[in-house]
Amino acid sequence: MYHPHTNFMNTESILKQRLICVAVIDKPDDAVPLAEALLAGGLKVMEVTFRTSTAAESIKRIRQGLPGMCIGAGTLLTVEQVQRAVDAGAQFGVSPGLNELVLATASKNKIPFFPGVMTPTEVDRALNLGWKHLKFFPAGAAGGVAMLKALAGPFAHTGVKFVPTGGINAANLPDYLALPQVAAIGGSWMAERKLVTEKAWSKITALTAEAMKVISASPVKN
Ligand code: 3PG
Repeated sequence: MYHPHTNFMNTESILKQRLICVAVIDKPDDAVPLAEALLAGGLKVMEVTFRTSTAAESIKRIRQGLPGMCIGAGTLLTVEQVQRAVDAGAQFGVSPGLNELVLATASKNKIPFFPGVMTPTEVDRALNLGWKHLKFFPAGAAGGVAMLKALAGPFAHTGVKFVPTGGINAANLPDYLALPQVAAIGGSWMAERKLVTEKAWSKITALTAEAMKVISASPVKN
């Protein structure tokens, strides 16, 4: 049964499928059909970004309507957005950056959270604040696989795990999955905003199934 503020997923279960669909939803009526299209493709984890005013309503509808979907809130830039995400029933949170007030609110609410980092200093800061599962964003523009390998040098022994996001697609997905410090991948390529506004549900299911096939073929290294 749906209870906002409860039933948060633990971090390991969120990352188990090794893929998080990053979605921008303009109309709340598209939320459940989109989540159904992802589930039909085999993906049970998605993040609805707070880039539209309808994000909280979309999260609420998915949480209430589709208990099989693990639903997170993304692009959480403010304390108020974290609180709204939690109230809507989000089961995890994601941010492109590392904002200590946002992280304190996530901790207070006990919601699993993936802060965003891009540099060694930011990884260091996140670790010192107690956060070990970090979104690496924008992955492609920040140096991609080569940058993640370089970051592993001084940081792998800390147990840090990354969720690279930004510029990832079915073609370069295996290169990221091959890195032991990569826990999961985030990306919008299977459900781009345009596909959602066009209600291209079967296309989204096909792209998701293709991604899940690549994931099944990639050995787990971490
Ligand atoms: C994000 O918010 O994490 C990114 O916009 C997703 O990046 P992508 O659109 O390149 O997958």
